[in-house]
Amino acid sequence: MKYPDKVYLNGEIVNPEDAKISVFDRGFIFGDGIYEVMVQIDGKFFYEEAHLNRLQEGLSKINITFNANELSPAIEQLLSATELTGKDCLLYIQITRGVAPRQHSYPDDIKPTVMMYAVPKILPDINKVNAKVISRNDFRWSRCDIKMTSLLGNVMLNEEAMQHECFETILYRDGCITEASHCNVFFVKDGIVFTHPANELILDGITRQIIFELCESLQIEIRETPISINDFDGIDEAFLTGTSTQIAAIQKINNHILYTDDKIGVVTQTLQEAFLKLKKEN
Ligand code: PDD
Repeated sequence: MKYPDKVYLNGEIVNPEDAKISVFDRGFIFGDGIYEVMVQIDGKFFYEEAHLNRLQEGLSKINITFNANELSPAIEQLLSATELTGKDCLLYIQITRGVAPRQHSYPDDIKPTVMMYAVPKILPDINKVNAKVISRNDFRWSRCDIKMTSLLGNVMLNEEAMQHECFETILYRDGCITEASHCNVFFVKDGIVFTHPANELILDGITRQIIFELCESLQIEIRETPISINDFDGIDEAFLTGTSTQIAAIQKINNHILYTDDKIGVVTQTLQEAFLKLKKEN
């Protein structure tokens, strides 16, 4: 991982070492902020409107007053300063409540801190990772629909995957699979796709939403019904989705092997190919 060449901070584009925020920024003190990640593919941000809408919704869920549409010209300036205009890259956006003396409740008249950076990122046509995952208890809070910067739970759970030389940690709450530490998760059983409903226990991923669109156009049945951790034996396929993960087939869950020799399941493969086609069309 490399630092970006430039950082956008509150209207200015500066070198990373000159991007300074107050230690009293509520993002630093409380993780009181919302973030978004999107990728530019072939000169265009993929599902930009959906990402900016989710950012706007996240801000309104935690009462930060900021118009996400104001970001568009700043994004262009940032890409130009980073020499990434028209190039494949990943854009990170973070908006925190701003700077104020430490108190839990929202301070009045506070100006949000806006930070963005872009780094080169060339995604493969199809993610061929053959993901090995572990499962762990989802001990995060119960507002996982908010894409907030306080990601300690996700960080701790992802670290466990790294310690086990796995790609991800899939999470269960009350015996049902919710999502993963930085991805959504889907299962396939008898040709039907299953995933957790988009309620307060998961982040409704933009890639997750695309899976619903693709299933509809491919006439693959998809149900928002969570899979139980005791159901792994009856599962034919499983896959992860996310902005930079795209669609990654799950090969192994704990000690349970879903396929061998790169023989990805037919539904996962069909969705991967349809996703690739969608990227080329956008
Ligand atoms: N992660 N669930 C969680 C907990 C996530 O953090 C993410 C995204 C997703 C997938 O959302 P999307 O398809 O919109 O990327 C699901 C981002 C990319 C991250 O934190 O880097």
